[in-house]
Amino acid sequence: MNYSAKVMDHFTNPRNLGTLKNPDGVGEVGNPVCGDLMKIYIKISEKNSQEYIQDIKFQTLGCGSAIATSSMITELARGKTLDQALKISRDDVANELDGLPPAKLHCSNLAADALKKAIKDYQNNK
Ligand code: FES
Repeated sequence: MNYSAKVMDHFTNPRNLGTLKNPDGVGEVGNPVCGDLMKIYIKISEKNSQEYIQDIKFQTLGCGSAIATSSMITELARGKTLDQALKISRDDVANELDGLPPAKLHCSNLAADALKKAIKDYQNNK
């Protein structure tokens, strides 16, 4: 399988790996087909009366593409307002990584879905 240099970079050197103490929102998704699991933790702050993602971390039990897409989505989401972050799509994640092999495209679904779940978790519990 051919992976882009960016996928390999985020796989071997994942950004924002770990957990957050007292997160404001947590999103967990699993892929029933491959069994991979991803968890995203977010901390929310306010700037100019707009809520934004101040900090974000992830834990992923899964394939290299799932790790690379988790890492990339944390970079894309950090500093974004909640509205902007909710708009980050599966395609955005794959495109930012210079593409994923077709058989691995579903792995980027996990990252986008986990981020959305974490934001919803925050919105439902505040
Ligand atoms: Fe399961 Fe990639 S093979 S997320």
